[in-house]
Amino acid sequence: MSSGCSGLSRVLVAVATALVSASSSCPQAWGPPGVQYGQPGRSVKLCCPGVTAGDPVSWFRDGEPRLLQGPDSGLGHELVLTQADSTDEGTYICQTLDGALGGTVTLQLGYPPARPVVSCQAADYENFSCTWSPSQISGLPTRYLTSYRKKTVLGADSQRRSPSTGPWPCPQDPLGAARCVVHGAEFWSQYRINVTEVNPLGASTRLLDVSLQSILRPDPPQGLRVESVPGFPRRLRASWTYPASWPRQPHFLLKFRLQYRPAQHPAWSTVEPAGLEEMITDAVAGLPHAVRVSARDFLDAGTWSTWSPEAWGTPSTDHRDSVEQVAVLASLGILSFLGLMAGALALGLWLRMRRGGKDGSPKPGFLAPMIPVDRRPGAPNL
Ligand SMILES: *[C@@H]1O[C@H](CO)[C@@H](O)[C@H](O)[C@H]1NC(C)=O
Ligand SMILES: *[C@@H]1O[C@H](CO)[C@@H](O)[C@H](O)[C@H]1NC(C)=O
Repeated sequence: MSSGCSGLSRVLVAVATALVSASSSCPQAWGPPGVQYGQPGRSVKLCCPGVTAGDPVSWFRDGEPRLLQGPDSGLGHELVLTQADSTDEGTYICQTLDGALGGTVTLQLGYPPARPVVSCQAADYENFSCTWSPSQISGLPTRYLTSYRKKTVLGADSQRRSPSTGPWPCPQDPLGAARCVVHGAEFWSQYRINVTEVNPLGASTRLLDVSLQSILRPDPPQGLRVESVPGFPRRLRASWTYPASWPRQPHFLLKFRLQYRPAQHPAWSTVEPAGLEEMITDAVAGLPHAVRVSARDFLDAGTWSTWSPEAWGTPSTDHRDSVEQVAVLASLGILSFLGLMAGALALGLWLRMRRGGKDGSPKPGFLAPMIPVDRRPGAPNL
């Protein structure tokens, strides 16, 4: 019987809510409809939607017959919960004395917004993005309003600035990504970023001053390759390209920093290459080497990029220069051998001619001038 009654009243309430929600006397906080918000530990006022402000109503918890607050409370269409806590969260039903009007309200507890933590980054010289995170979890539906103003620096004297312009929206893309992007920013201008956290209990703004030239941090270089140099067991040739996010323009170049170390060696050696490649000449023969590069605006604006992923290379073990030496030595040896043979042949011929002559025995010391020059003691390459 009573359940049938409450069922009927619920239907009535639903109908009434549908009829009057457009002209609700309750201020509609930002957030889903039908939900009202409060802070734990504070007193919370719920407002009965669908009744004229000040009309006396009865309040119930949804599904509980117990009267929470009667129409004679003197509080009109509002329910006051002192020191709300999590057990107060849930759905409430309110209705006028005759039960004809009323509505349902869901109470959700949480905290007002706190100033978000904001930081801005630029990976090129024309666009920058700002990201943020809550400095406190509110537990409530939250959104962020993002905008910026710009101050153009007129001269080298940084005090001479034009008045700020804006605000313009800093578009969030995609929505809810906790990131907004300023496109087409001016390298020498000052920007004031406004990130305002909004929830049903209020709003809180963080302002951040940034300039592109101070936040500029290129992406790391790409396409790092490490190659051995045939014939040079202590050389490695490293090459890389600009990061794709940095379109090359004469006025905005990058400089680079390269580090290398042999495998299992803890310390990096650092060099500042002049271009997009570097010849390492003191590699450890036979050992694999790790190489990495980072980039920075060539006029030192901003900061160095992170290091690129490491690339590995091992110096050539094909000792072309020592092979060449061996070849030279060998050919010298062959030449001397040929010379020796020629000498021996000449000596043999001479001896034969001598034997064929009157005197049978050669004179001692006679041979010396006949020995080829390169056979003499102390001659090179023998
Ligand atoms: C800035 O962003 C726009 C739009 O994404 C892009 O077309 C442009 O190349 C960027 N500028 C630089 C210098 O990367
Ligand atoms: C920051 O943005 C919020 C929301 O758009 C705005 O109400 C507030 O006035 C702005 N604050 C400043 C200092 O620009």
